[in-house]
Amino acid sequence: MQKQFDVAVIGAGAAGMMCAAVAGQRGKTVVVIDHAAKLAEKIRISGGGRCNFTNVNAGPQNFLSQNPHFCKSALSRYTPQDFVSLVKRYRIGYHEKHKGQLFCDDSSEQIIAMLKAECDLGNVSWRMPCSVAGIGKSGELFRIDSSAGEILASNVVIATGGLSIPKIGATDFAYRIARQFGLRMVETQPGLVPLTFDSAAWQPFLPLAGIALPVEVVTGDKKSRGEFREDLLFTHRGLSGPAILQISSFWKSGAPLLLNLLPEVDVAEVLIEGKTSIKKNLGNVFAQWLPTRLAQGIIEATKLDPAGRLADIPDRLLRDLGQAVNRWTIQPSGSEGYRKAEVTLGGIDTRELSQQSMMSNQVAGLYFVGEAVDVTGWLGGYNFQWAWASASAAGLAI
Ligand code: FDA
Repeated sequence: MQKQFDVAVIGAGAAGMMCAAVAGQRGKTVVVIDHAAKLAEKIRISGGGRCNFTNVNAGPQNFLSQNPHFCKSALSRYTPQDFVSLVKRYRIGYHEKHKGQLFCDDSSEQIIAMLKAECDLGNVSWRMPCSVAGIGKSGELFRIDSSAGEILASNVVIATGGLSIPKIGATDFAYRIARQFGLRMVETQPGLVPLTFDSAAWQPFLPLAGIALPVEVVTGDKKSRGEFREDLLFTHRGLSGPAILQISSFWKSGAPLLLNLLPEVDVAEVLIEGKTSIKKNLGNVFAQWLPTRLAQGIIEATKLDPAGRLADIPDRLLRDLGQAVNRWTIQPSGSEGYRKAEVTLGGIDTRELSQQSMMSNQVAGLYFVGEAVDVTGWLGGYNFQWAWASASAAGLAI
């Protein structure tokens, strides 16, 4: 079995396979090593099994990083259209679902098969399942101590992703290697994750579990502000749905969320205007706007009677009710953590890497790509676009 390669890619996920294919097709000898038995488990489960593989509108504005400029170079050189061309070449059916998100018509397995075929075109070798005990560097060569024996490589690409979903093989491998070689790290945090509340505080909301509605949600200050208009979902432990997953990446522990449950309606204004109609009662008006259980919960929380006539309720109380709907302020106690997070915020500090090649500025031949790096996309296909773009940058540079 071949022992020495131009490139060893650790991690056969989205970024690892893309990088291996690009480098292999440029004539480099490439080996991909992964501790899992199956390729790209996260692609497989992504997008509910249909892989939201990119977003046609992806740009630097859709990513979080301590250095928001770092991602620009790679994203501009490998665009969503480049990945779409590849998908078209493999005749994989796809459709746009929501806000530029592209999904496979059939199955995310098609994306995995496509990347594998691209690797085959580059004569990529595989070591899977294969664990890596350590990586050392002597002279120009990296020595990889693996369960398949020692592997030597002139370049090593770390594509082992972040910490989300340890159940399907996520590890802190990239961070350990970064520290070993003296690279700085940005503290990690679960991102795109449901938010939770203190169980006693959440008790009154338990009957709302399962309710979904479109909302506007805001958090943060001028320096790091998130604002999204998406669906919210009440759960038994707190809040989820796209609105909350998006805002969770901006949320800092201890900070409040400001929710507008009816972004299209100025509730206080409409209620006060409605007082002229004798027949109107609170319950009926709210029933046109919000799911019944939620409407009842809000009215009861403000100690008003759903059967009460608008005309009999002082403006002051109607304004309070308007605030409760249009400016609901809540403070999550935490999140569901890496167990449920779709991504990991933070990671390898971008100051340590070249934005052109993703190679370490300190250690020649050592590259980091994909989610391991401190570049994290919003929900909606952006994280895969970063995986493709950063991996392509490294694959072309090696
Ligand atoms: P990725 O995690 O894909 O690959 C890492 C690889 O390294 C894995 O194969 C793993 O086994 C291997 N590995 C880890 N530790 C190792 C070790 N110690 N030794 C050897 N191998 C090791 N994004 C998006 O854009 N659209 C979407 O639809 C979704 N959907 C989605 C759903 C769910 C449930 C999750 C959890 C995540 C998403 N994402 C997503 C995010 C997306 O999956 C993620 O950002 C990319 O897969 C990151 O690609 P990487 O290649 O960097 O890591």
